[in-house]
Amino acid sequence: MSNSSNKKVLVSGIKPTGRLHFGNYFGAMKQNIELGNSGEYESYVFIADYHALTTVKNGDELRKQTIEAVASYLACGLDTTKVILFKQSDVREVTELTWIFNNLVTVPYMMRAHAFKDQEARSKDVNVGLFDYPVLMASDILIYDADIVPVGADQKQHIEYARDIAGYYNRAYNIEEFKLPKELIMAGVENVPGIDGQKMSKSYNNHIELFCSDDELKKRVMSIVTDSATPEDKKNPDENNIYKIHKLFLNKEADEVLRSKFSNGGYSYKEAKEELLATIMKWREGKLEKYNHLVDNFSELNSLLEKNGGVACEKAKIKMEKIRKTVGLTNTF
Ligand code: ADP
Ligand code: TRP
Repeated sequence: MSNSSNKKVLVSGIKPTGRLHFGNYFGAMKQNIELGNSGEYESYVFIADYHALTTVKNGDELRKQTIEAVASYLACGLDTTKVILFKQSDVREVTELTWIFNNLVTVPYMMRAHAFKDQEARSKDVNVGLFDYPVLMASDILIYDADIVPVGADQKQHIEYARDIAGYYNRAYNIEEFKLPKELIMAGVENVPGIDGQKMSKSYNNHIELFCSDDELKKRVMSIVTDSATPEDKKNPDENNIYKIHKLFLNKEADEVLRSKFSNGGYSYKEAKEELLATIMKWREGKLEKYNHLVDNFSELNSLLEKNGGVACEKAKIKMEKIRKTVGLTNTF
């Protein structure tokens, strides 16, 4: 794969903080896979293990979750001949760049970050890593000269921070070093609902994992919360949780068919859940086996990560050399 093409650069990351679920998939991973696999971009997708350190405090757990995230991406079809899939921490240069950027942002500016404000509202004991999270993320993005950053809707502010920080640096050192990256947010999947109708999230334990066991999948789907409508009742699909999850898997025609089943009446919640389960089982065909195989043979994944980490690192090193010179960390004038 060429890594110094004229193609636009795509950069995205996902935090390995637990097994991935359909909120992660439809909200973030799917577009990385589709855009990356198109071959139209020079694509860098990484597992954000440095970011995960803000919450994960167990080495083995982080290692395991990193492997699971890589396996999930590959099982979901990420083409590693078109996308450089690597581990964030294999490019240590991003932490050096974070330190340089830290001196260009102010504390009041950082205190306006949503993630920090949300966390601080829950507990005042916010760690400095979490406070600095957006700066590390800006480094991730800017070090590879990203043009586009596909992310879930909740990450929009982080990309704004990356743009601001690029501008602060360029102005402080009077140099056009960093491009201003653009976020790419897919419409219609900002809020994938969980089995209780709230936003799907590990923290609410309302999620459906991509690669749980068949039994667990069945349990989760059959416990999707519904109202007391009878099988005969006509049901508004747009207010129905089973529909909102099911439609994510469907093309336009299949979606129309499903919508009319709900709105015509005579479609029980039991039947609706069984059909959703069948759809998810079909989606998992081939992928679940691949995922389990990859996780069981994780040394193959480690070799891939090592190789790709090297490729990403090469690019980052060239950028950092220029930055070190500009800010005065090298000996030559
Ligand atoms: P969780 O809420 O389960 O801890 P994360 O915050 O780790 O999930 O999610 C990683 C990314 O996946 C998010 O930044 C977001 O882009 C996407 N994502 C997660 N949950 C959803 C959801 N319910 N709907 C849409 N996107 C989601
Ligand atoms: N903060 C992102 C999330 O929680 C993960 C991430 C880290 C990221 N660095 C990034 C995403 C750089 C895009 C680009 O989902």
